[in-house]
Amino acid sequence: MDLFEYQARDIFEKHGVPVLTASVATTVDEAEKAATTIGGKVVVKAQVKVGGRGKAGGVKLAENPQDAREKAGAILGMDIKGHTVRTVMIAAAAPIESEYYLAILLDRSNRTFLVMASVSGGMDIEEVAHTAPEKLAKIPVSAVDGISLAKAKEIVAAAQFPADVADQVVDVLLKLWDVFQGEDATLVEVNPLVKTNDGKVIALDGKVTLDDNADFRQPDHEALVDQAAENPLEAVAKEKGLNYVKLEGQVGIIGNGAGLVMSTLDVVAYAGEKYGGVRPANFLDIGGGASAQIMADGLSIILGDKDVKSVFVNVFGGITACDAVANGIVQALELLGPKATKPIVVRLDGNNVVEGRAILAKAAHPLVEQADTMDGAANRAAELAAK
Ligand SMILES: Nc1ncnc2c1ncn2[C@@H]1O[C@H](COP(=O)(O)OP(=O)(O)OP(=O)(O)O)[C@@H](O)[C@H]1O
Ligand SMILES: [Mg+2]
Repeated sequence: MDLFEYQARDIFEKHGVPVLTASVATTVDEAEKAATTIGGKVVVKAQVKVGGRGKAGGVKLAENPQDAREKAGAILGMDIKGHTVRTVMIAAAAPIESEYYLAILLDRSNRTFLVMASVSGGMDIEEVAHTAPEKLAKIPVSAVDGISLAKAKEIVAAAQFPADVADQVVDVLLKLWDVFQGEDATLVEVNPLVKTNDGKVIALDGKVTLDDNADFRQPDHEALVDQAAENPLEAVAKEKGLNYVKLEGQVGIIGNGAGLVMSTLDVVAYAGEKYGGVRPANFLDIGGGASAQIMADGLSIILGDKDVKSVFVNVFGGITACDAVANGIVQALELLGPKATKPIVVRLDGNNVVEGRAILAKAAHPLVEQADTMDGAANRAAELAAK
């Protein structure tokens, strides 16, 4: 889960990373009030989960509360790369002397953590990484050892931070490691980390990505979920423990195993070209144990999607054999009763396929039809969706 800047700022503060006084506003009245409380010059910052806000006009300096009100009025409702700004953060304005860059991230390709640091921070860090990569120090950090004081000093020296801020940057780095490890993050980025004209080092902008796999031991993170952005079907699926992602198309997909489901999406999109561009409506992996309850949960989520016109159940029997899956489908349709309203194409293959197909044939549910091959089933489901 990616966090908003203001959420990252709060987490930084909790772990002792130096940040500025700030608060959030969703109306111009709140923005003016926040600016009054903070006092003096402030910055008004669009809260969207996308980079490049400054360049898009989403970060503006305001001279006084009235000005903050006007700037907030201009930024609220703005569209930044497809994200509508619903919240702004009002922060004290810092007298900036230098802008640096610091990030701790999971480096998947090298199977390690990585620190990136540069004294050329600010809005053009991507440009720096591209044109002057030597100005961006990259230092691997072992998951076992983490960032010790010695390691932090090594990083600060490698990135050539000036002597007058080196100690402060070391301290910030240790605290950012505390954030990274303590919060189970996969990314903690500060851009810019600034030196003010009185020599203080402060994190002015933060990006944090939390590892959802660690949610079980981070109960506080639940509160950080952006409810407004959650798709309601995805929320229900999450509650039921299903791997569901809503897509734009018309053919609902249920499969067992992420790989099979991924290729089912491709096959349906390909077959759908013949029918005026019919596409898969979702990703749904019901995993290994396709019990009646799981099948019913999956089907009811998919049938609850008003965009869905037909459903394609694609199952390869393995440890859970086809007869168990077929029984699951039959019982799921009994559980759903009149809530099942859309045609369902089922393709079973693998372990106990003959028994599985016989069970479906015997049940002879009016909505269910079987197909022998994956391509044939995809074609039929796309055809039904196009009707
Ligand atoms: N509190 C502040 N006081 C003074 N200047 C600020 C403050 N916050 C941001 N700025 C200035 O605005 C610039 C852009 O701000 P920020 O880094 O928050 O947004 P951004 O980098 O454009 O957004 P993103 O990180 O989403 O790409 C900073 O580099 C800094 O120069
Ligand atoms: Mg930034």
